[in-house]
Amino acid sequence: MTYTSKNKWVDYVIFGLSVFLVFCLLFDSYIELPRLVAWIGRWHPVVLHFPIVLLLICVFLGLTGRKTRLPDGQVPRFLLTLAVIFALVTAISGFFLGKEIDTKGDLLYWHQWLGGTLALLAALWYWLEGMQLENRIYTKVLQVALIGLVLFTGHYGGMVTHGEDFLALPTEKREEKIPENPLIYKDVVGRILDNNCVSCHNPNKQKGDLLMTSLDELLKGGEVGNTIVLGNPEESEIIRRLHLPFDDEEHMPPDGKKPLDETEIRILERWIALGASDTLRLAHIGNSEPLADLVKSLMEPDPAEKWAKFPQVADSTLQNLSSDYLTIKRVAGNSNALSIDVYMPPEYDPKAVTNLRRVAENIVELDLSGLPIGKEEIALIAASKNLEWLEIDKTPVTDSETDTLRALSKLHTLKIFETAIGDKSLLVFREMSSLKSIYLWETSVSKEAVEQLKTDMPLLKVNSGIDEELRSFFIEKDSVPEI
Ligand code: HEC
Repeated sequence: MTYTSKNKWVDYVIFGLSVFLVFCLLFDSYIELPRLVAWIGRWHPVVLHFPIVLLLICVFLGLTGRKTRLPDGQVPRFLLTLAVIFALVTAISGFFLGKEIDTKGDLLYWHQWLGGTLALLAALWYWLEGMQLENRIYTKVLQVALIGLVLFTGHYGGMVTHGEDFLALPTEKREEKIPENPLIYKDVVGRILDNNCVSCHNPNKQKGDLLMTSLDELLKGGEVGNTIVLGNPEESEIIRRLHLPFDDEEHMPPDGKKPLDETEIRILERWIALGASDTLRLAHIGNSEPLADLVKSLMEPDPAEKWAKFPQVADSTLQNLSSDYLTIKRVAGNSNALSIDVYMPPEYDPKAVTNLRRVAENIVELDLSGLPIGKEEIALIAASKNLEWLEIDKTPVTDSETDTLRALSKLHTLKIFETAIGDKSLLVFREMSSLKSIYLWETSVSKEAVEQLKTDMPLLKVNSGIDEELRSFFIEKDSVPEI
């Protein structure tokens, strides 16, 4: 049982690399690398494929003893030498690469030690082959162990680079519906961070020493500190970075990743301004706090979804209902949501409008401006429960008709200017929670009542005719029938 060497220099190289690798693994935390050496680390993902393939071929030949003219179970020397050298170089380059990462998570730790052991066991095999052992059981055990190590090292390596779920089924971003009365941190803020930030700020890839996997970690902050300054978004590092120009190196998420949109940034700001709590719920927030509206805007179902349950309407029905003075369009492609404009014909017959009863539930936009509307038309409006946009300006409506509008729980825009409505109607509008814009110049509504409405409902846009430009724009648009 004597060691026979074919090439002394190769032995020296393998011995030297092995000792160096052991040194690296043991004294990891004391080692500082110069830049050029760190650069070698970047080759790790490229070279690592060679030892995997070469070692597996060697193990295969070793275990089966096939296709070689060597004594039972011996592996071609050249192949094994190459595999071992590559394994050692790969492990060392991996170690260099690891030095570039500030905080090593568990995954990286395991990957490093498994990979190091793998390379050293391969070197041991090389040495055992040189010993020309009679009993080959040791080499066989070693070979089986190498297969296991290759699999586990690769698995952990994959998780380091691709995230822990690398081999799990592809997971979707958190797109599930925000629940009723959400917790602001868990259901809204957490979701924004999960979808945009956590991929780089988690225990395995803790960029900038910052973890975003829990509120405690987030508040603890990162390297620079001041990640979140409670009550003070302007001072918070996290907000500062979101506002930087996209090409700024410090902008988050970094170049190439989808930036947060304005609503998402504002939500983070207001949440920090209110104290970055994890118990705050939407219902706790007053309506005058912008966060309430911002969160609600994320909760709105997308149009296609909200109209999906509408009754079917056939194209032929639409054709029957439409005329030279009445146009019907489907909103958004082939949805069952309808947009209807009615114009004043030389001789008006309410029937044109009352016929629309058949499709009342499908109407989301209705323009009756300038028509001499009466009871029947008002009944149609009341039946159109899904209305989101209604124009009844320049019509004979009064306070007694506006009461029916109360039933329109989805109405967000109401044009009712140049009508005889008075302050009483404002009491109705006040209760319509989905109302966002209202146009009411040249009505009998008093200035004081308008001011009161504006103060009480800061989120409602009240256009009361002060803005002449806006006014002429609407008059122009509304009085020209497009026949
Ligand atoms: C592609 C990876 C990546 C993504 C995604 C990412 N970051 Fe970072 N982040 C980094 C890196 C790298 C650093 C450290 C370098 C630096 O300070 O710019 C960092 C640092 C930070 C820091 C500074 C930590 C400190 O105290 O030093 C903050 C704050 C931060 N990120 C916030 C975010 C936010 C918020 C998001 C999501 C909108 C996000 N990051 C998404 C890679 C990422």
